[in-house]
Amino acid sequence: MNAPLTLNPMVAPDATDTGRDLITVTTRPPTVFVEGHGSWLTDEAGKQYLDLVQGWAVNSLGHSPAVIADALSAQARRLLNPSPAFHNRPMLDLARRLVELSGFDRVWFGSSGAEVNEAAVKLARRFGRRHRGGAHEVISFDGAFHGRTLAMMSASGKPGWDSLFAPMPAGFAKARYNDIGSVERVITPQSVAVMIELVQGEAGVNLADPGFVRELRALTTERQLLLIADEVQTGIGRCGRLFAHELLGIQPDVMTLAKGIGGGVPLAAVLCPEWLNGFEPGDQGGTYGGNPLMAAVGLAVVNTVCQEDFLAHVRQRADQLARGLNSIVREHGLVAERGAGLLRALVLPGDTAPAVVEAARELSPVGLVLNAPRPHLLRLMPALTISEDEVDQALDLLRSALRAGMGSREPSSSCPQTSACTRRPAAPSAGPRSGHGCADRPAGPAASGGATARCLP
Ligand SMILES: Cc1ncc(COP(=O)(O)O)c(C=O)c1O
Repeated sequence: MNAPLTLNPMVAPDATDTGRDLITVTTRPPTVFVEGHGSWLTDEAGKQYLDLVQGWAVNSLGHSPAVIADALSAQARRLLNPSPAFHNRPMLDLARRLVELSGFDRVWFGSSGAEVNEAAVKLARRFGRRHRGGAHEVISFDGAFHGRTLAMMSASGKPGWDSLFAPMPAGFAKARYNDIGSVERVITPQSVAVMIELVQGEAGVNLADPGFVRELRALTTERQLLLIADEVQTGIGRCGRLFAHELLGIQPDVMTLAKGIGGGVPLAAVLCPEWLNGFEPGDQGGTYGGNPLMAAVGLAVVNTVCQEDFLAHVRQRADQLARGLNSIVREHGLVAERGAGLLRALVLPGDTAPAVVEAARELSPVGLVLNAPRPHLLRLMPALTISEDEVDQALDLLRSALRAGMGSREPSSSCPQTSACTRRPAAPSAGPRSGHGCADRPAGPAASGGATARCLP
């Protein structure tokens, strides 16, 4: 087709653009990463960066951990994919492990968070057709992020997403996060489920209020609505417990997992009780769902993270990071720090987060990789294996980045760091001991997941 027009004149091809052959979906810095180990990334020029993004909370065990490399290479030599029409051993073993650890009865595997969230909505609609007279509407929340397929854009609460690629799939209503009255007001006879992130990551690490979550659980039970917990970002140890809903003392009806469960490879899961196991053959599937290569990695990751000493390490590092961030808030006149476990945020007094992210990356000789999901907010989601020394280095680098990125806002005199951090990266951390077994899974809600007292306990 002859198409002389460019849809986006802002990004006309530029011969010097590193990503000129890629369809433009975001603005990337010119940095090209070539290697990663533990908490550290290395770019093509050999510069090292302490990584507090970890593939967007994906590399739960850090970059290229031996346990994943071993699982991948052993499985790659054995069986890649017999097709989802057949069982394979890693898929069955991972499903069994998740059932043992979660209290759910059934698992379906996909490759992305959006895919399993859609599967959760399909499970809910099937339930609605069979048991609730055709009810099909899913209530989700302002600010929510559930993925980028068309239906998950409808489910998400990002401003403008309800019409960006119109016509959008219908059947999603919006309530206000932490406002039970707003949920009650949007319930209709067509409502079948409520879908929630227990920590809204993209919206700015907003924590669900424990009282709100308990009321939501009671309300959904009373009104025969399913409660779907999107634990794509919060699950698999990120918040200091294997699943974030453990911190809140509730059991959802459906849970979705992605990101951390694959430790960096595309793996996702939706979990449900037996009474929701309602798909007919062919209703749900996918070429890569439950393939042995990804499932073998998932099994290695879950068997590592579910160890109580591993989760205790996550909580210790979370406490250390939260304490350090609180000091930084005071030293630099910031607004607040908040978070749950190793999913944390720093709220800045102005819209300088993108500048801080850039300044952090450009620190020399060692850079820092940060994320700014909102113009005034930095999100930190380090590897769950980050060491004590690496947390201290990250805090030092962050102080330098804030000084450089926030421009005129000078830190108070109590700031101990007066020049750009010159520490060299320590040897990649081996992380806490890994192993198998998981006999001592924590029972009931936790007293502390490294969260601030205001919200998640
Ligand atoms: C809570 C939540 N749900 C769903 C998704 C979508 O996951 P994916 O990008 O794997 O489709 C994300 C991604 O950031 C997420 O944070």
